Amino acid sequence: MKRTEEPMNRTTEEPCLLQFGCMAYWLGIDVGTGGTRALLVDEVGQVRHASTAPHEDVRMERPLWAEQRPENWWDAAQQAVRSVLAEAKITGKDVRGVGLSGQMHGLVILDASYQVIRPALIWSDQRSQPQVDWINHTVGKDAVLRYTANPVLTGFTLPKLLWVRDNEPRNFERVKKMLLPKDYVRFRLTGEFASDVSDASGTALFDVVQRRWSFEMMDALKLDRGILARVYESSDVTGSITEEAARDTGLEPGTPVVGGGGDQASSAVGNGIVETGVVSCTLGTSGVVFAHSDKPQYDPAGRVHTFCHAVKGAWHVMGVTQGAGLSLQWFRNQLAPGTDYNALTAEAATAPAGSQGLYWLPYLMGERTPHLDASARGGWIGLTAKHKRADLIRSLLEGVSYSQKDCLDIIEQIGVSLDSVRVSGGGARSPFWRQMLADVFDKRVVTLQTQEGSAYGAALLALVGTGVYQSVPEVSKAAIREVDSVSPQQDSVRVYVKGHAVYQSLYPALKALW
Ligand code: XUL
Repeated sequence: MKRTEEPMNRTTEEPCLLQFGCMAYWLGIDVGTGGTRALLVDEVGQVRHASTAPHEDVRMERPLWAEQRPENWWDAAQQAVRSVLAEAKITGKDVRGVGLSGQMHGLVILDASYQVIRPALIWSDQRSQPQVDWINHTVGKDAVLRYTANPVLTGFTLPKLLWVRDNEPRNFERVKKMLLPKDYVRFRLTGEFASDVSDASGTALFDVVQRRWSFEMMDALKLDRGILARVYESSDVTGSITEEAARDTGLEPGTPVVGGGGDQASSAVGNGIVETGVVSCTLGTSGVVFAHSDKPQYDPAGRVHTFCHAVKGAWHVMGVTQGAGLSLQWFRNQLAPGTDYNALTAEAATAPAGSQGLYWLPYLMGERTPHLDASARGGWIGLTAKHKRADLIRSLLEGVSYSQKDCLDIIEQIGVSLDSVRVSGGGARSPFWRQMLADVFDKRVVTLQTQEGSAYGAALLALVGTGVYQSVPEVSKAAIREVDSVSPQQDSVRVYVKGHAVYQSLYPALKALW
């Protein structure tokens, strides 16, 4: 069931450091889509051990529906924490602080006895277009932008809650608390109903500029303010491990748990995206281009999100490809079962750049940036009898890269300047895909010493929250190092400039069909 890894990225042989002695660790827990990861860092922010416990498959009863059981996240969190402590041969006493990160936007609803009412509608669930339309009609599109700094999208939490109201009124009547995925795990760890500013930003109920819940939205929609969790800055302490959670996880009662962040903001902390000019591209199930910003910066068309950062007093903009790693995962599961991802990318490398005129539209779960269209559908365009499986795979990686290039272009258009992109996530482990990204972006693509994204960022936030470092930029400077970079190859750049233009023309041409 579980996957554990050997100690990694050791820069010193022993974690016997400055002020805390040999046995001091900080734990990051990331509640992802595929699994929950627990990761230990030492006092100087170096990764020591990590362990992942997989989740049950995402339930997709209908196209564009996506649900997971919050209880399964909690089971996975317990398993991952227990196994990382065992791997490190330490006890909970050696863990000085915990940070949480998680998939964003999911809807967890609890009843009066704090039991989960129904499976969570997760980030990729796109069923709520009627509710989005109703919100825009009831509150007004401009008011939504004024209150929350973003247009409301089908993936965000609020329309999911309203879907439950409209389709499962009995469940809706029982709602006493509404939580985001990582905050359900926090509730099981600490007994507190709490969230952080970065994750709350993706609910469509948060005033991103003022960094507080938007009671204006709640009131306009006649929702009960009491269902909301208390919101903290990401590095602030939100509670501590309870006796019961200590028995379940092996952690020590009283260990502080900090706010943490949505997976993208946490991953950005792990990638050192904590000052302007540095941008990241994270290829997980979704693909995200993320830029730090000292003030809330907007795309007037709302194609990229403007959310609070996990850094105090900072914001970020990000563009999202819904089906990034998901495209490759789908290909593997449906067309190449059992094949290793490395074998798939090696096969892709045998096809020429441009995949002989074959294009992949990665809209397996609709699309966010730049189309904001839940009804978009994926597919290959340009298939001929000469294409081989290698072209299919290569075109798939190219399509995802073009979509990420769209995100990057919009972020540059709204005034964020950049000369390199830091890549992370499962997709970035492939040197072939990294080179492709450099060529499609026509930018230098940098990898970091620690390729861990969200769980690492969450652990760094715990180092700040427990006072080892004074700020997120401070821990980032101390812990994060660039180790490798690839530059664009101009022959491929030229192929991809043309390919990107064709890719961009396909969505408008096909939109009417969807
Ligand atoms: C961000 C987003 C994804 C999910 C799943 O807006 O939807 O990052 O959090 O990773």
